[in-house]
Amino acid sequence: MPRKLDSWVADFRKVQARPRPYRNAAVSLRPCSVDDYEHRVKLVREAGLNVFKFPAADIPGCDLLTDSGTTTMTMRQWSQLLLGDESYGSNEGYFEFKDQVAETFGPRWRNEDGRVENVFIFHQGRAAEHGLFTCLGRMLGAPGKSVAGAPYYVVPSNGHFDTTQANLEANNFEARNLFCAAARAKDASARFKGDIDIGALRGLLEDRKMRERIPLVYLTVTNNTGGGQPVSLASIREVSELCHAHDLPLMLDCCRFAENAWFIKRFEPGCGDRSVADIVRLMFELVDGFHISLKKDGLVNIGGALVVCEKGLLARRYPGLQQALTGHQVLVEGHPTYGGLAGRDLKGVVEGLKTVVREDYLTCRVGQVQRFGARVDEACGADVVVKPVGGHAIYLDLDRFFTGTGLRDDVFPGISLAALLLIAGHRMVELGVYAFGKQVGGREVLPDPRVNMVRAAVPRLCYEDVDLDAAAGAVGVLYRGRSEIPGVEVEFGQDLPMRHFISRFRFRA
Ligand code: F0G
Repeated sequence: MPRKLDSWVADFRKVQARPRPYRNAAVSLRPCSVDDYEHRVKLVREAGLNVFKFPAADIPGCDLLTDSGTTTMTMRQWSQLLLGDESYGSNEGYFEFKDQVAETFGPRWRNEDGRVENVFIFHQGRAAEHGLFTCLGRMLGAPGKSVAGAPYYVVPSNGHFDTTQANLEANNFEARNLFCAAARAKDASARFKGDIDIGALRGLLEDRKMRERIPLVYLTVTNNTGGGQPVSLASIREVSELCHAHDLPLMLDCCRFAENAWFIKRFEPGCGDRSVADIVRLMFELVDGFHISLKKDGLVNIGGALVVCEKGLLARRYPGLQQALTGHQVLVEGHPTYGGLAGRDLKGVVEGLKTVVREDYLTCRVGQVQRFGARVDEACGADVVVKPVGGHAIYLDLDRFFTGTGLRDDVFPGISLAALLLIAGHRMVELGVYAFGKQVGGREVLPDPRVNMVRAAVPRLCYEDVDLDAAAGAVGVLYRGRSEIPGVEVEFGQDLPMRHFISRFRFRA
């Protein structure tokens, strides 16, 4: 008896493997081969074992240095690039970008007051941070205000990214990270480990003297510093109510807003039936402004923005801020209607913002990062990946990786691990006792709280699972031989600021 079509369909639904929601429309053939091991040994030495200095063209496998600006753009984005309008003032992309901001984040982000700009375009995220904290710092007189030798103004967050922190500090604000208890306890089962420690924030705001020192509050979604961990909608709502009760603006650093919304849909009670696009709007209804590096969930290779809600508390509390930002843009980026980007870049962003909230895309994207984490553990036969795996990267816990090997912090085994992975053909980066430690008076000072990881950030729409499996396999080889991994000596840069970008190392004999 031939089966009914419905019954075939029911069986097809049971197939576990899902096709990607896209296909390759252009590929870049690598100029090198995975078999060029000896060549990479030479290059790694020439680069002083510094992954930032290793030529990208000689990486045949996965380049997992960052997920920022490394997106493969879609054909629609490329088509929009060709339609770019390169006028110096008020190019087409500018208007389309502002419309798309209101479309993606909700109608309250529309510029109703035509006299004052509310969408500030920058060439990347940190330029937006620099603009905001320079202008706000100047308005508040922050650079000249200190208490007991420390900055007077304090900006609390669930976890400032390092450039955000650096831009705050450059303007004499203190960047204060309030990681939640689950993040501090390294709880592997907590679904929203990116949340802020709400008790600690409440404590700050209810202390009248401290409250006066806080000009605004930040949430980073997802929380990159905490490993790309999501922030729950409930937490954003609670923080918003708390801030607003104290007449304080709440801002988002929302580079990975769509990935965060996907986690909310998947794991937050009561959110499963909503679309990701809806959840994004719900998140952004609760805040007064945001800055974004479009190099992540804008799905482009360059771009950033700072957006002020005209009806929100940021605009109300700091009425001169928007004009000041426009002045700043003219000085350092270009005319405010292109803000350091080519007109074509803006068109690419508009198309990227339309794509990024597609659930099939996000399920495939975040799912790939999760599968990669599982494959690394499988290849090692051990639990070395930090759990739960976040949205854009996996982190190898170096303390677990090197347990029992006798390799001490002062030979920086994470640097060796990353250098050996380059020889295998893949690039990851140490974010541990070297990147976050420092030298004071000739003595090494470890990061406190201790952070000791290697990060593998997955570029969007770029690699297939087979590529990541190859990277996982290489980690497995190194895990099995972990007690024979040589430590390193630092040849140059141990005492310099931001030292991991510029240092040179050599393997110990
Ligand atoms: N905020 C967060 C949360 C980020 O992850 C980044 C960049 C920025 C701001 C700055 O944006 O690079 O466009 O200036 N993160 C990259 C990374 C560099 O590799 O995590 P940008």
